[in-house]
Amino acid sequence: MILYVNACVRAESRTNRLAKALLNKLGAYEEVRLTDLALKPLDGESLGYREAQIEKQNYHDSIFDLSKQFAEADVIVISAPCWDAQFPAVLKIYLENIYAIGIVSKYSENGGPRGLCKAKKLYYVTTVGGGYDQRFSYDYIEYLAKHAFGIPETELLCVKYLDIEGNDAEEILSRAINNIDEMY
Ligand SMILES: Cc1cc2nc3c(=O)[nH]c(=O)nc-3n(C[C@H](O)[C@H](O)[C@H](O)COP(=O)(O)O)c2cc1C
Repeated sequence: MILYVNACVRAESRTNRLAKALLNKLGAYEEVRLTDLALKPLDGESLGYREAQIEKQNYHDSIFDLSKQFAEADVIVISAPCWDAQFPAVLKIYLENIYAIGIVSKYSENGGPRGLCKAKKLYYVTTVGGGYDQRFSYDYIEYLAKHAFGIPETELLCVKYLDIEGNDAEEILSRAINNIDEMY
């Protein structure tokens, strides 16, 4: 199963358009639109509840549904526009919510994480108003994928300079979408 984690916020999101061009090449997919989920950041209560369920190995609880979906995907595509040099907060909240020990990751003998996810590849799709510094978004997602989730391969698809005065954003995006058609 291909899982599409859509962290785009604007209804007419260009990042979503770019991701959909990739997904059309990859095949049928399941979409999780994060802004539709009303996910909440973990707080003392929800974290305590989750830890208690993990302690009891009660993985049937519905709080683990998104974690299981993520862990069982064969390929994952995350789309998120560049916001404040990173990505919209809803993506961090999603990651916080899916990162359940025993489903997406477990602790190895030396205390570090060992990934339990099935996916062989994760794509991170983004668009940026200006230039792109991948350290705060793609590099972080790549780190989690490889070191925490056990996903061996990641790929960045980025289209930048969309909001630079004088640039034709539509043309830049269309060119990128055509490139996807040729590359994948
Ligand atoms: C809240 C917000 C924060 C943004 N932060 C940045 C930024 O830090 N650097 C940048 O180059 N562009 C920034 N932009 C511009 C977006 O990255 C750019 O317009 C992007 O293509 C929007 O993607 P979308 O069409 O999928 O919403 C920001 C836009 C918004 C709305």
